[in-house]
Amino acid sequence: MSIVKLEVNGKTHEVDVDPSTPLLYVLRNDLDLRGPHFGCGLGQCGVCSVIIDGNSVRSCLLPVSAVKGAITTLEGLSKDGKLHPLQQAWIDEQAPQCGYCQNGQIMTAKALLDRNPNPTDAEIRTAMEGILCRCMTYYRIQAAIKRAARGTATASVEAAQ
Ligand code: FES
Ligand code: FES
Repeated sequence: MSIVKLEVNGKTHEVDVDPSTPLLYVLRNDLDLRGPHFGCGLGQCGVCSVIIDGNSVRSCLLPVSAVKGAITTLEGLSKDGKLHPLQQAWIDEQAPQCGYCQNGQIMTAKALLDRNPNPTDAEIRTAMEGILCRCMTYYRIQAAIKRAARGTATASVEAAQ
């Protein structure tokens, strides 16, 4: 066991864990953050995704001691009780069915929009292709990302005026 320091959703945490423990387990079991889900545990489905320094990262295989950078989980998206535009778009488009994969979908979509605020359909498909949904909600997810992108674009135009 050793003390590992993590910055998660803007707060610093110290956890006493085996350094080889996957980040996902530390987030869920030690920090009580249940947004990231366990799916395959093999880096293949993406439901465990979190954002580390702007990139969508699968937390099920990443040893906690190897984390470099600030972590954002699904819980970190809504600030001051307000939904993130992606979360609102997910509701507006009724994107989820069972919901199990949707953490990975939203976090990967956030990483995409942060680096490319107005992606094409092809860019959305490329960015999202590794996040599996057994309920096949892909078209609604794409619609939600486009809706959020439109809203974000409108907000930035309004803010610039
Ligand atoms: S649980 Fe991490 S990729 Fe499937
Ligand atoms: S909504 Fe069920 S797995 Fe994606």
